[in-house]
This record gives sequence, structure tokens and C-alpha cells, in this order.
Amino acid sequence: MTGTETRAETDSKTRILVLPGSFRRQSFSGSIARYAASVLPEACEVEFAALDELPLFNQDFDDDGTTPASWKTFRAQVAVSDGLLFVTPEYNRSFPAVLKNAIDIASRPPGESVWAGKPAALISTSPGRIGGALSNQHLRQPLSFLNVRILLQPEMYVSDVAALLNSEGELVDEAAKRRIEGYMSAFVAWVAAH
Ligand SMILES: Cc1cc2nc3c(=O)[nH]c(=O)nc-3n(C[C@H](O)[C@H](O)[C@H](O)COP(=O)(O)O)c2cc1C
Repeated sequence: MTGTETRAETDSKTRILVLPGSFRRQSFSGSIARYAASVLPEACEVEFAALDELPLFNQDFDDDGTTPASWKTFRAQVAVSDGLLFVTPEYNRSFPAVLKNAIDIASRPPGESVWAGKPAALISTSPGRIGGALSNQHLRQPLSFLNVRILLQPEMYVSDVAALLNSEGELVDEAAKRRIEGYMSAFVAWVAAH
């Protein structure tokens, strides 16, 4: 919220939380996430979750009353969000640990999961040919268990991602831009339907 916005104005916004699967400086999926976020309508307030700041899950933190501040922040971000956008590479034919850690953290303490009922879209990327398809599919398993409302169709796999970007890491491939724009339109409609 900026200094000039009132609480009523921000409450009328649709809060989209982006959950990146990579924090590499030149991350290809980061480039795709930035483009996807940039084509969301003005009515959306977009925030990127700092999943790299989350200490690895250990139930003792909650049990001992030493819950890390970053966990509290992340749980609150998920809780107030109207829609979740996962944008991730594939690691060893699955999704990266940074995302699993985040999923686990916001699913606890028992009975206090903040995932249930949240509409979500999943974009996977790869410099290879199958667009992180297995990362994308594996991500559906914990999310569906947690009752996240995953947009099933269309799907979004971005293959050969390095070839779609310029030297600044900006998405420049027009066909890819149109596909991502179409996917984000479907996501916005999915969020509105919830
Ligand atoms: C640990 C590790 C495992 C990987 N496994 C896969 C894989 O299974 N499939 C794939 O397409 N790329 C794989 N890659 C290559 C990534 O797609 C590539 O490093 C990509 O740049 C990572 O995403 P980023 O650019 O968003 O950081 C792997 C990379 C790492 C570091």
C-alpha cells in the first residue's frame, strides 16, 4: 500500500501472490514470472513471495513458540491472497525444494493450513524440450492434497525458455508472450470464479 492509498482501495484489489521456484540471479523462470505478472490487470495487486528467506521446516519452531518471522509473513501472505501463481523450473524431474518447503510451512500448524480453497495457476519452465512438465505435474500432488483449487486447463509449460529471452532476460518471443497472456486471462477468470 502506498502512502496515498486507503485501506478501502487496497481491499478492492485482487491480491495475487507469485511463488517462484528459483531465486537464481538470471533465473529463466523469474523472467517468465515477471512477464506473467506484468500482464495481469490493474485491479490486481501482485506480490512475489520471498521463499528463499524461509528457514527449512521444523515443527519445533511452532511447538517452542519460536516461529520465524519470515514464516509468519509468508503464512499471512498466503492467507490474504486471492490467487496463487506458481512459476517454477524442474529439478531432477520434480519441483525445487524451495517450493516444497514453502508448501509445508503454510500447511502447518495442524488445522491452520492457509492453502485450502485458494485458486492457483502453475507455470513450469525449462531450457529443455519438455517445459518442466514433471515439475508442473508433481506440484499438483501436494497442492491438491491441501485443497488448493488448481486451474486444470489450460496448462502452461514453457520449453526452450532461454531462446525466448533477450540478453537482459526479458521475454521477447511474441508467440510465447501471447500464450502466457492467454494463460493469465484464464487465471484471472479462475480467481474471479472463486
Ligand atoms: C539440481 C538441478 C536439477 C535439474 N533438473 C532438471 C530437470 O529435471 N529437467 C529440466 O528440464 N531441467 C533441469 N535442470 C536445469 C534447469 O532447468 C536449469 O538450471 C534452469 O535454468 C533452472 O531454472 P531457472 O533458470 O529459473 O533458475 C536442473 C537444474 C538443477 C540445478
